[in-house]
Amino acid sequence: MTGSALPTVRDVAALRYAIAAWRKAGLTVGLVPTMGALHEGHLSLVRTAKERCDRVVTSLFVNPRQFAPHEDFERYPRDEAGDANMLASAGCDLLYAPERSVMYPQGFATNVIVADVSTPLEGEFRPHFFGGVATVVTKLLLQALPDTAFFGEKDYQQLLVIKRMAHDLDIPVAITGCATVREHDGLAMSSRNAYLNEDERRIAARLNYILHDAIKAVHAGEPLAEAEAEAARHLIAAGFTSVDYVAIRDADTLAPVSDGSNARILAAAWLGKTRLIDNMAL
Ligand code: PAF
Repeated sequence: MTGSALPTVRDVAALRYAIAAWRKAGLTVGLVPTMGALHEGHLSLVRTAKERCDRVVTSLFVNPRQFAPHEDFERYPRDEAGDANMLASAGCDLLYAPERSVMYPQGFATNVIVADVSTPLEGEFRPHFFGGVATVVTKLLLQALPDTAFFGEKDYQQLLVIKRMAHDLDIPVAITGCATVREHDGLAMSSRNAYLNEDERRIAARLNYILHDAIKAVHAGEPLAEAEAEAARHLIAAGFTSVDYVAIRDADTLAPVSDGSNARILAAAWLGKTRLIDNMAL
């Protein structure tokens, strides 16, 4: 183990050794998978994990397989020392920060693909994304074998994909979703918010208000397709560069719905070079 702020392990054997010692002492284990660039949203996952489990491991791995070649893998913010300090103060017990060669050694050839729930929305606009996420999360769950793994609802479709994958593959880990943490103006916390300039940051906050307005319109009787289209128009009027989707879908399957019961509104929109996503229950 290395690092002063927080015990840190960098390979699977050291991770399993640390967790085996906890298991031997009868302790439960929570895992919080992250790509670093931590913010209050991640820390709230760690605090929830610490409330529910005796020990908490956070993984930090910027997963190249979930970025397309034209996406922001190279510029994705990285600050392991800062992240480790924040994790220590949130009650995390162990940081697992593997190198790329540990996660994907020479000859790595397996890809975990989850059908159906991966296909619409993010799956349409980032076709490589959920394969990369499902593959790395499968590995993280099997490497750590925690009792519970914690994920933010901010990436709502990702949460559904991971639940499906863990269930389908009989991975003996409970998958828990935690509420999105928001800035004072309602903007969902995201590592990518760091890319926004002052103007973009101001416009970004409109996303959550526009989704709230769409929900109100549906409750007032507006047809779902009209509420979606109106929200997309309002995003452009507010200054968003383009809208990938605004969609009201079944909260469990993301299939199209005919009414708002058990539904979720999900959106993805661009502000310059930054892509923001958000979602809310209806
Ligand atoms: O949500 C994220 O930060 C990532 O997609 C995850 C779950 C850590 C997998 O790389």
